[in-house]
Amino acid sequence: MTDISTLESLHLANIAAATDEAALEVVRVATLGKKGTISNLLKSLGAMSPEEKKVNGPAFNGLRDRVQKAIAARKGELEEAALNTRLASECVDITLPVRPEPQGTVHPVSQVFDEVVAIFADLGFSVAEGPDVEFDDYNFTKLNTPPDHPARQMQDTFYMAPQTDGSRHVLRTQTSAVQVRTMLVQKPPIRIISPGRTYRRDSDATHSPMFHQIEGLVVDEVTHLGHLKWTLEEFLKAFFEIDHAELRARPSYFPFTEPSLEWDVRCDRSGGHIKFGTGNDWLEIFGSGMVNPHVLENCGIDSKKFQGYAFGGGIDRLAMLKYGIPDIRSFFESDLRWLKAYGFTAFDIPTLDGGLSR
Ligand code: DAH
Repeated sequence: MTDISTLESLHLANIAAATDEAALEVVRVATLGKKGTISNLLKSLGAMSPEEKKVNGPAFNGLRDRVQKAIAARKGELEEAALNTRLASECVDITLPVRPEPQGTVHPVSQVFDEVVAIFADLGFSVAEGPDVEFDDYNFTKLNTPPDHPARQMQDTFYMAPQTDGSRHVLRTQTSAVQVRTMLVQKPPIRIISPGRTYRRDSDATHSPMFHQIEGLVVDEVTHLGHLKWTLEEFLKAFFEIDHAELRARPSYFPFTEPSLEWDVRCDRSGGHIKFGTGNDWLEIFGSGMVNPHVLENCGIDSKKFQGYAFGGGIDRLAMLKYGIPDIRSFFESDLRWLKAYGFTAFDIPTLDGGLSR
């Protein structure tokens, strides 16, 4: 019996001395594990006489129970201690002010993306997306611009290396490709916008080989140019934060719309910077039109039952106009000083109620 109590105090001392869960596990395996001291004692009962069993059985089992309990209790203590240490080290003092000089800012293009999405979401549009590397078919052919079509020359395209079947992917030249992607998978009514990156071989103060566009598409049983005009007016009023936006339509040509129109917005350039809503100048803002029935049919939509309108324009240009940024190339130079001047803090989240800009 002395053996048992010596053993017990030894084990209990080891358990108390375990300073983490791994050390405690070592003690558990050494005592209660398959080949542990206590397991061996219990196994030895099998070879004992009934008298010996009577004495040793309760003693060994009692030892096992007490050691088991002690291990469980120590485990609880260690877990709590570990949690407390973690809580202490990971605690965040939310009463601390934000660092006074944050280095990063939200890029004006990202900000305008969010502004545009907020405005069109309020008008019932959802956001659709497509890839930057696009099928020639979606960027051109299904948009009524087959390979030999002269309108292909309107856009200086980056072509990818030919596929094994001879077809070539392009870096999409227009977000209009997302119209196709949407119509191929969604039945009318359709009401989407698609802001995203686009690419053309062009570079000067107002053109960058990578730039951003927004596309809009509505397809339903009754849509007409009045809806289109109203939508663009509402957008411009909200975007430029003006009470009144006056639009002027000019006839134009896009292969995927019939008729095609370009819209100018009335503005005043006399004061050295642009003011919208007044003045005697006009600024081109969106290309648009009624979706060409060929495009609807190419995308599996019955053009006898449905019509649609579409519009598209440059996001960078909208950002330049709204925030007075003169050169599009500066958007992509990653100059921290420029970002500090034109960027937004992470808290400038554009919402229609809270205000779209600072
Ligand atoms: N995709 C045209 C471009 O890049 C812009 C455009 C014009 C989009 C008319 C449209 C539209 O949806 O209807 O120049």
